[in-house]
Amino acid sequence: MAKIKIEPANGKLGILLPGLGAVSTTFIAGVMLARKKKLLPIGSLTQMQTIRLGKRDEKRAPLIKDFVPLANLSDLEFAAWDIFPDNAYEAAIKAGVLSKEHLDIVKDELEKIRPMTAVFDKSFIKNINGPNVKTGKNKLELANQLREDIRNFKKEKNLSRMVVVWCASTESYMEKQPVHESIEAFEKGLAESHPMISPSMIYAYAAIMEGVPYTNGSPQLTLDIPALADLARQKGVPIAGKDFKTGQTLVKTAIAPMFKARMLGVRGWFSTNILGNRDGLVLDDAGSFKSKEISKKSSLEYIFQPGMYPELYKGMYHKVRIEYYPPKNDDKEGWDNIDIFGWMGYPMQLKINFLCKDSILAAPIVLDLALFMDLAQRAGMRGMQEWLSFYFKAPMHAPLLYPEHDLFIQHMKLKNTLRYLMGEGMITHLGIEYYDYWGTGKE
Ligand SMILES: NC(=O)c1ccc[n+]([C@@H]2O[C@H](COP(=O)([O-])OP(=O)(O)OC[C@H]3O[C@@H](n4cnc5c(N)ncnc54)[C@H](O)[C@@H]3O)[C@@H](O)[C@H]2O)c1
Repeated sequence: MAKIKIEPANGKLGILLPGLGAVSTTFIAGVMLARKKKLLPIGSLTQMQTIRLGKRDEKRAPLIKDFVPLANLSDLEFAAWDIFPDNAYEAAIKAGVLSKEHLDIVKDELEKIRPMTAVFDKSFIKNINGPNVKTGKNKLELANQLREDIRNFKKEKNLSRMVVVWCASTESYMEKQPVHESIEAFEKGLAESHPMISPSMIYAYAAIMEGVPYTNGSPQLTLDIPALADLARQKGVPIAGKDFKTGQTLVKTAIAPMFKARMLGVRGWFSTNILGNRDGLVLDDAGSFKSKEISKKSSLEYIFQPGMYPELYKGMYHKVRIEYYPPKNDDKEGWDNIDIFGWMGYPMQLKINFLCKDSILAAPIVLDLALFMDLAQRAGMRGMQEWLSFYFKAPMHAPLLYPEHDLFIQHMKLKNTLRYLMGEGMITHLGIEYYDYWGTGKE
């Protein structure tokens, strides 16, 4: 199999983060601690996972980072935008995810990361407000200011490449509008400050125009509009989204394939969460919650295929709740009650109580996405990167396809894509050649 031409990962990679909150600071501080060899980057495939190559008896299983040319942690530089002026150390202390003891090891480095002024619009995020924001005569001018920030970061840090990963708050739910339908309509909308162009769309537009890959870690529409998808293809830029798959949906997309694989029916699935961080505060607003609810609910329908298996899954009741409960802080607690049925329709239940740390689960995803999106760009892959569905609650996909939500299929797709890029054979798990089923093997 021919290997795809991939530019080497020479020089430094800049990671630009809209939002310098719990996820961003946990990610940045974690990378700094990992490169000082103080703590391990647990949860990151790019840093810790191996990839099997060839047949099982060949015993070839290098680390992913030794197999594909990825940027080294030592070559990463960080920048962020936020509506609050706190530097990364102050923001991390406020987020309360990593301990002061750990943060103090990299305090000097963190303090140097001061957020650039943000593009913010209160009509898209209701429950917070901050002073560190850009002003301009229209949205096009704001986009141009972001483009200048991106160029300045590149120059200042002497970077060879950059990626943007959205880690800012969830914007209000919005449906696609005519202003999103084409690049021309969108650019006209920017110049006229059209109210249906959200800040995240302005960041994405600025990144793509600068030739920088853009990843959407939150559930809002941003990239799912023809204008930005077309722009990304036109400019040869990879895009990916949406909404990091961390706690409950991670569990859901691992457990649901088990019921489906064993042909067990599901009558109802009730999921509830309590969390108390700033993300929880933003999601306490109905508009932001709706974006999240839709993203969290989409997976089961596609995994169970009720149209194909009506006796097992048609009419399944699926409810998702998120409650803001400040004492929990970043320690999110999720409960799932699943009403299932088996042989002869006899009912059973599965209950899951996941006590997780939201940002601890999200940080390695940010790292992997940043490194894989940079790889995609160096491999000349433009437009939506469906092979990264593994990391998202509501993965982007080609218009003719349904999204793939099954965690294990997503995982296989990711690894097969890496094998494909490097000219290695796909792994099918057939393995029939190891057995002598028909007596045709060598005696
Ligand atoms: N932690 C997880 O497990 C997880 C999973 C999936 C998605 N997400 C999403 O990731 C995002 C970040 O989560 P978090 O826990 O770090 O939230 P957070 O509230 O701690 O941080 C978000 C930051 O974004 C800033 N912000 C808001 N609007 C902005 C704008 N227009 N420009 C720049 N900055 C802006 C806020 O001031 C805040 O500091 C949220 O949208 C969340 O829904 C998180």
